[in-house]
Amino acid sequence: AIGVNRKMGKDGRWARAIEIVKEMEEKCATPIGKLKQVADAMVVEMHAGLASEGGSKLKMLISYVDNLPTGDENGLFYALDLGGTNFRVLRMQLGQEDGRIVNQEFAEVPIPPNLMTGTSDALFDYIAAELAKFVSQEGEEFQLPPGKKRELGFTFSFPVTQTSIASGTLVRWTKGFSIDDAVGQDVVAELTKAMERQGVHMHVSALVNDTVGTLAGGKYFHKDVIAAVILGTGTNAAYVERAHAIPKWHGALPESGEMVINMEWGNFRSSHLPLTEYDLELDVESLNPGEQIFEKIISGMYLGEIVRRVLLKMAEEAAFFSETVPAKLKVPFILRTPDMSAMHHDTSSDLKVVGNKLKDILEISNSSLKTRKVVVELCNIVATRGARLAAAGILGILKKMGKDKVKVGDKQRTMIALDGGLYEHYSEYSKCMENTLNELLGEEVSKSIEIVHSNDGSGIGAALLAASHSQYR
Ligand code: GLC
Repeated sequence: AIGVNRKMGKDGRWARAIEIVKEMEEKCATPIGKLKQVADAMVVEMHAGLASEGGSKLKMLISYVDNLPTGDENGLFYALDLGGTNFRVLRMQLGQEDGRIVNQEFAEVPIPPNLMTGTSDALFDYIAAELAKFVSQEGEEFQLPPGKKRELGFTFSFPVTQTSIASGTLVRWTKGFSIDDAVGQDVVAELTKAMERQGVHMHVSALVNDTVGTLAGGKYFHKDVIAAVILGTGTNAAYVERAHAIPKWHGALPESGEMVINMEWGNFRSSHLPLTEYDLELDVESLNPGEQIFEKIISGMYLGEIVRRVLLKMAEEAAFFSETVPAKLKVPFILRTPDMSAMHHDTSSDLKVVGNKLKDILEISNSSLKTRKVVVELCNIVATRGARLAAAGILGILKKMGKDKVKVGDKQRTMIALDGGLYEHYSEYSKCMENTLNELLGEEVSKSIEIVHSNDGSGIGAALLAASHSQYR
């Protein structure tokens, strides 16, 4: 490794540090032309993934959802949402009368980190036990018709090859999960066995990815929703495809003529993606090297980590913070994206938040204002690249669906449901993403495209899909 050049004076070191940031900025550049190439490459991969199993890095998974909620769903349904650092359980009383969601309650439980890399039984037992607790607290305002088993929509936000609406095998883990004995297993069977062990008697009626749940939840409230995007710990998208445009689908043509596709766009990769040495190193050292490259430059799990890696290089090569390299800066994932976001949004004149974060997280005290400004600049570079690439991905979907051009006489609105912590809480990121999408679409077309925040749409959507696929229908 290259150490600090001791002969470099103070000015020389500063210049070198700034040079590292400038290099990062150049390598992360996403001019409109490049974003259009990314969108076009996405469309090509979408076609390839739909053509044949394994035809592309984009798995374009068939969800078995061929009808989205209509508003006629009725009854008591549960949802379980697993896919990040927390999982949520939800109960909903659905009715056709005004309001439609008559009653709704949820609980959120953190997943102990050791369970993310343990065994399948340990993870599912933990979840089933929490679910049991939640079910036992069901109040009288929720009504299960006599003789019926409680039904559950299971949002499982990892790549799954579905074999029906309520079964599917795990392809591989993403987002820091790594539980070997679960790969290749039917996750509904795993959950069902754990529920039995924990004494919960529920029937899983729908297994959905969070993007598919968000699409269903979005559609319930806004009928013009045709796609959903998650920008959270991970990133992914789902959209409504015409069934006859899916050559790899050999099942019966659904009556609706449509099928929701879970793209698993996090695994997209293209020579047009602006990748840096930091991204390549992060990838090599990750739990899933070579996979989820798009996700690793866009999503919440990784943005803070990329910033940390650049700061570490600046500390090592240019003694950016102090004579010695701050020890904490060497700890992978110590700088989380919410902290990066807090620094990026610091509006105080002395960048107090940045100073405090550097001190509290990295034990770097007495940072100068000049130093703090550079840190913010770096956050901006990394967030901007991610947000603009996410916009390019959305453009890809709109192109595939033929919605990227205005047609004469076409007054139809197109809505895209968005959710995820990154989208919800990192406002510089979401603003940049939306501005870039408008820029890509041009003024006329962007008027017909609307992004809606689908708050916890994935859980609601799973409960709605459990309702429409209820065994008692
Ligand atoms: C990861 C998962 C994907 C999920 C996304 C957002 O990319 O593989 O299934 O939809 O994260 O949670």
